[in-house]
Amino acid sequence: MSILVKDLVYIYHQGTPLETIALDGIELEIQTSRWLSIVGHTGSGKSTFAQHLNALIFPQKGEVEVEGMKVDPESKDLRKIRQKVGLVFQYPEQQLFAETVYEEVAFAPRNWGIKEDEIHERVEEALRAVGLNPSYYKRNPFHLSGGEKRRVAIASVISARPSYLVLDEPTAGLDASGRKDLLGLLADLRERGMGIILITHDLELALSCSEQIIIIEKGHKLCCGTPDEILVRLLRDHVHGLLLPETALLASKLVSEGWDVPLTSDELLLARFITEKVKS
Ligand SMILES: Nc1ncnc2c1ncn2[C@@H]1O[C@H](COP(=O)(O)OP(=O)(O)O)[C@@H](O)[C@H]1O
Ligand SMILES: [Mg+2]
Repeated sequence: MSILVKDLVYIYHQGTPLETIALDGIELEIQTSRWLSIVGHTGSGKSTFAQHLNALIFPQKGEVEVEGMKVDPESKDLRKIRQKVGLVFQYPEQQLFAETVYEEVAFAPRNWGIKEDEIHERVEEALRAVGLNPSYYKRNPFHLSGGEKRRVAIASVISARPSYLVLDEPTAGLDASGRKDLLGLLADLRERGMGIILITHDLELALSCSEQIIIIEKGHKLCCGTPDEILVRLLRDHVHGLLLPETALLASKLVSEGWDVPLTSDELLLARFITEKVKS
């Protein structure tokens, strides 16, 4: 099962002086139960792409197909598509609306017609998955910290039990430990079989957690591959606005000076190689 994207084009304000080509012929296949990161500089088209995946906006040209269902305004499967693909918005405030955490997380399953006794089970499960205990149920989501709000926003999407979870810049505004916790939470969901589609401008973050990475630039897919493949490619051809990890730059410098070390962004791995070389 997968999401197929063929020659996807999306233009804002087409035919006016404000015309902006956001997506210009994107092609890709997203497998379920994998962790894909979509990486690009600000303005490269990431959020526009994300919104196509759960049918918030529709292709102007080309196709998006979710497990065989076409993302099209005329489609009878739009509800099913939105249930299969959950989208966590960039800012939790764009997503949250209910007066209590419980109601927030119960909204999606209720909306999909799930029976009330199962809803309770789903709310508990989703909040447990994001690490929020029952003491949060009655709290107002708007009064929580940034990291907690993001957890509620994720719980409110996973309570619908989607097959794919799309997160648009989910680490924005989180400190280092909030970021680490969030990545751990996503890794758990991935372990349980959910496809993770992480949208980020942070290449280092994507290199550290993904199974596959797609780099987009100005609405085009520039390249895709495993983190190792992407790193080698970007060390060769820099992409404007994407910061390469310091460790990878150091590894690349050592290689260019004749050291036999791997091109990696993994500090510990590089340190081990350097130590071995220095000792021998
Ligand atoms: N609602 C909109 N109206 C007009 N232009 C937009 C709108 N949303 C995004 N754009 C433009 O489309 C391009 C891609 O934007 P976006 O998908 O938000 O990229 P990213 O998420 O990578 O920053 C940018 O040039 C942006 O200015
Ligand atoms: Mg964006």
